[in-house]
Amino acid sequence: MESIDTQVAIIGGGPAGLLLSHLLDLAGIDSVVVEQRSKAYVLGRVRAGVIEQGSADILRHAGLGHRMDAEGFVHDGIVLAVDRDPFRIDFRALTGRSVTIFGQTELTKDLYDARSARGGAIFDEAEGVAVHDLDRETPSLTFLRDGRAHRVRARFIAGCDGAHGVSRASMPKDVLRTYELVYPFGWLGILSETPPVHDELIYANHPNGFALCSMRNPMLSRYYVQCAADERIEDWSDDRFWEVLAARLPADAAARLITGPSIEKSITPLRSFVAEPLRFGSMFLAGDAAHVVPPTGAKGLNLAIADVVVLADAMRNFFIDGSAAGVEGYSATALRRVWKSVRFSWWMTMLLHRFPDDDGTIRAQLQRAELEDLRRSRAAQTVLAENYVG
Ligand code: APR
Ligand code: PHB
Repeated sequence: MESIDTQVAIIGGGPAGLLLSHLLDLAGIDSVVVEQRSKAYVLGRVRAGVIEQGSADILRHAGLGHRMDAEGFVHDGIVLAVDRDPFRIDFRALTGRSVTIFGQTELTKDLYDARSARGGAIFDEAEGVAVHDLDRETPSLTFLRDGRAHRVRARFIAGCDGAHGVSRASMPKDVLRTYELVYPFGWLGILSETPPVHDELIYANHPNGFALCSMRNPMLSRYYVQCAADERIEDWSDDRFWEVLAARLPADAAARLITGPSIEKSITPLRSFVAEPLRFGSMFLAGDAAHVVPPTGAKGLNLAIADVVVLADAMRNFFIDGSAAGVEGYSATALRRVWKSVRFSWWMTMLLHRFPDDDGTIRAQLQRAELEDLRRSRAAQTVLAENYVG
């Protein structure tokens, strides 16, 4: 058994785990990241790409903003379209703030590069990761890599292993309380090497279902359409996708839409999920391991960043200042932000999607009334804008 000693053992090499490791390093705290997939796999995953202004500032402050600032795009607003009729939410005018469009995949790459530049320890392709002695001050992780057994001993474990990881699953059932809402639809997303249809994101509510026009760069578009929860990807040719998308967009956008072959196509089920508390003994949960939001509010990555900032600060407080106040308060502090974003993501989802059997229901009428309110009321737009920019 190969044995490694560190201060914080981090499970998961997604944005949460890598950023935590980086922030700890900047504070002079040693950590080891253990990731079950290969680095190539992690960097091949397509994820969302909206970075709140506060998140962007954190990344810059941590020395991670160079490529984001050079290659990302600052967006001062979004377009909402109802039955193909668009109106704009002007973030800058309403809040003085904006968001940056920069793919999570690109950010993850920058995080890997930053860790390797500073000699950070990352064990990828780790099999059978298990946690031990969470109720003691000497917890550890074990795993197999290249057929060899490893043990990482630490003072703390950070569970940054996403929605289906081992950390949350290892918490005793009587300690953990979970809240979950599964929406009766999914998003079918494609990536295509075509110019984006518009220079801002378009969120469309249409009787046939929701659609979203997003982007990665001037020659890479990301589009989504609402689909049934049990949809089969084989049933979606590119032609069918483009046709369904165009029908849900404002007529001028549909006319401008440039189509092309998809280079990625996937279905995301939509759900809201929160686990409480975010700590058991010596282990803390952060990012998707602790909560999942539907992508409608573009909050997943931003919440992960917010969690690990609080957690890194708590650990700095512990290791450098010798105070346990931060680690004691982590769960409550992080959860306040979590519930705010979970609520906003739920609200955006309820506002913009078509529910099964929605015809003539009071739900559908209330949704229309709320969208009308948003179209006309600056106060209503300000609430959306404040939540979106973070
Ligand atoms: N052992 C080690 N690593 C694991 C394990 C395990 N048992 N289970 C999962 N992992 C890894 C996954 O392979 C993944 O690389 O943990 C990582 C978790 O990364 P993400 O899923 O990206 O989650 P997180 O870092 O919290 O980032 C949140 O990602 O899923 C999106 O919408 C979400 O944008 C948000 C962001
Ligand atoms: C994306 O670009 O993938 C994206 C943008 C905004 C969202 C969700 C996803 O709300």
